[in-house]
Amino acid sequence: MSHADEHEGTRRDFLYYATAGVGAVATGAAVWPLVNQMNPSADVKALSSIRVDISDVEAGTQLTVKWRGKPVFLRRRSQDEIDAGRAVAMDDLPDQLSRNDNAGSTDDASDANRTLDEAGEWLVMIGVCTHLGCVPLGNGSGDFGGWFCPCHGSHYDTAGRIRKGPAPENLLVPTARFDGSVVVLG
Ligand code: FES
Repeated sequence: MSHADEHEGTRRDFLYYATAGVGAVATGAAVWPLVNQMNPSADVKALSSIRVDISDVEAGTQLTVKWRGKPVFLRRRSQDEIDAGRAVAMDDLPDQLSRNDNAGSTDDASDANRTLDEAGEWLVMIGVCTHLGCVPLGNGSGDFGGWFCPCHGSHYDTAGRIRKGPAPENLLVPTARFDGSVVVLG
């Protein structure tokens, strides 16, 4: 079994347990021995924080990884994307909050408050549309050159901010930090 297979197996087991834990109290007795066997502390720890090597990501492209069961976009923005994001007036933003777990909860949604580095090159976001949870399309999609969710037509700009369509909030920026050429999520 390859390392990737092992990881996938662990993830499935965890998701199964999480689902069973919510809906089926009666099965609790049966579930616990399984979890103990899996060594839950190590398992949960591995899932709560992951490291993503970003050294091969070129400007204008992105990497998508799965974390806590959701896609995460790690985009290395081109200078054009940075410039476009920074040129937007706050009044043009339907959601004026940064939605950045690394910033204050009342910080505004300016481009600089959305990115992981000061130069604005790295944008890390949960790849889940804030309308009803579809995964938006990236690589310059939509009317604002960022992401587009085809489910009901939500357009996000190059900073992942909602600009048009039914989504109520900007794409969420999760807790993340640099460790050399690695981004640590969680
Ligand atoms: S889920 Fe994205 S627009 Fe509805």
